Amino acid sequence: MQNTKVAIVGLGTVGTGVARLLVEHGDRIARHAGRKLVLEHVAVNDLKKPRDIKLPSGMLSADIKRITSDPEISVVALLVGGLEPARSIMLALLDGGKDVVTANKALLAAHGPELFDRARELGRSIAFEASVAGGIPIIANISQCLSANEIQSIHAILNGTSNYILTQIEAHGTSYADAVRAAQGLGYAEADPTMDVDGSDAAQKLAILAHLAFGARVDWNDIPRQGIDTLDLADLRYAKELGYRIKLLAVAQLADGELELHVSPTLVKLGSPLAEVRGAYNAISVVGDAVGRVFFSGLGAGQMPTASAVVADIIDTVVGRSAITFRTLELWSKHIARVTARDYGRVAGRYYLRFSVADQPSVLAEIAGVLGKQNISIASVIQHEAEEGSQGVVPLMIMTHNTTEGAMGRAIEAIDRLAFMRGPSIRMRVRD
Ligand code: NDP
Ligand code: HSE
Repeated sequence: MQNTKVAIVGLGTVGTGVARLLVEHGDRIARHAGRKLVLEHVAVNDLKKPRDIKLPSGMLSADIKRITSDPEISVVALLVGGLEPARSIMLALLDGGKDVVTANKALLAAHGPELFDRARELGRSIAFEASVAGGIPIIANISQCLSANEIQSIHAILNGTSNYILTQIEAHGTSYADAVRAAQGLGYAEADPTMDVDGSDAAQKLAILAHLAFGARVDWNDIPRQGIDTLDLADLRYAKELGYRIKLLAVAQLADGELELHVSPTLVKLGSPLAEVRGAYNAISVVGDAVGRVFFSGLGAGQMPTASAVVADIIDTVVGRSAITFRTLELWSKHIARVTARDYGRVAGRYYLRFSVADQPSVLAEIAGVLGKQNISIASVIQHEAEEGSQGVVPLMIMTHNTTEGAMGRAIEAIDRLAFMRGPSIRMRVRD
């Protein structure tokens, strides 16, 4: 059987999983690749760091040149996070004649055009299945299996860390800080978990999906986003009372030829498939004009699920499938976008609102008046009695009918100026 030499850059959570699959399950991988994949070299940053995997002596080094200058290594898994030195390493690998597999969505979302153009110029490929939703094969499904469709919408849970944190808080009463620490310990979180909890990681993944599914050319920084870091725990309780669960939802949806894009904590109907996605699981609900709705779910973060996607990409690259997909898709090419992003103010939806108000007459009437002026119709209202120690401040929850983000923004601005308001207004999108 033919041997193909591969290498890994980065031996952290994901790199260790990839090395484990290549070293410990070589026979299975050889069967699927039709050749033996020999892990030739692993480059890391800090040679002194203890490792969770024992590799043959001499395999590990802190010298990337040992990979770039070895003409027998054809495929490299780049499993370093962040932008630099990941970008420079990717360019050095491509320049060194390597096909690259990566899980780094931050890198692709920021430098996709440069990296993909360079790969094309050099006749190389970049495969990135693991960059979106960990172990779920969503890139292959959208770019290949669903290619007969016009994709109409994507509603997705794309950040495993946030979903894990929300589940820990809701199901086990864990504090937010403890849940973040646990997600870091389990290897779900980014090196800087701010990217997970502020919605950035999900926006980067959404930008990649929007690119593939809709031909959009969006900068992830332009995607309106909010994370779970600003959530008030009271809203998890109130949402449940109303029959919903809060999820960090990433949405890309066609509306009259424009693309609505946003990431935000959203009330999702209890019992619906997205509401039941727990822990580090991700899920992606895709609607195509021919296929209808398809729903993907699986672990979106963690060592082995992510390694599963990386190794599948290595196999695809070695057998030549990635090169074909890469050429055909013209990813991040300079071609004009097929669709442009809709101004966020025009994005429609229902809302959950919570106001902290003084317990006094005419509060509801005044709020309803402001909403009415913006043509926002109320679907339901809940007000709790003042609790002991609340100093006469009560929570007032309102569910609205369909409106736009712009109208809602104007209404909230006016409501926040009313004299009986005792705290900032909370607004979240609702998905029924
Ligand atoms: P880790 O922080 O666990 O590992 C990063 C690795 O990169 C470390 O081994 C580090 O070396 C190595 N590294 C850093 N700088 C260099 C350098 N200059 N040369 C060589 N190696 C270097 O990250 P993860 O494994 O968690 O994530 C890797 C990528 O995968 C990220 O882009 C992340 O977003 C993505 N990803 C992660 C998932 C997860 O569940 N963790 C899921 C899906 C994607 P050293 O060990 O010596 O410090
Ligand atoms: N930090 C990411 C997450 C890893 O929690 O989803 C997977 O991309």
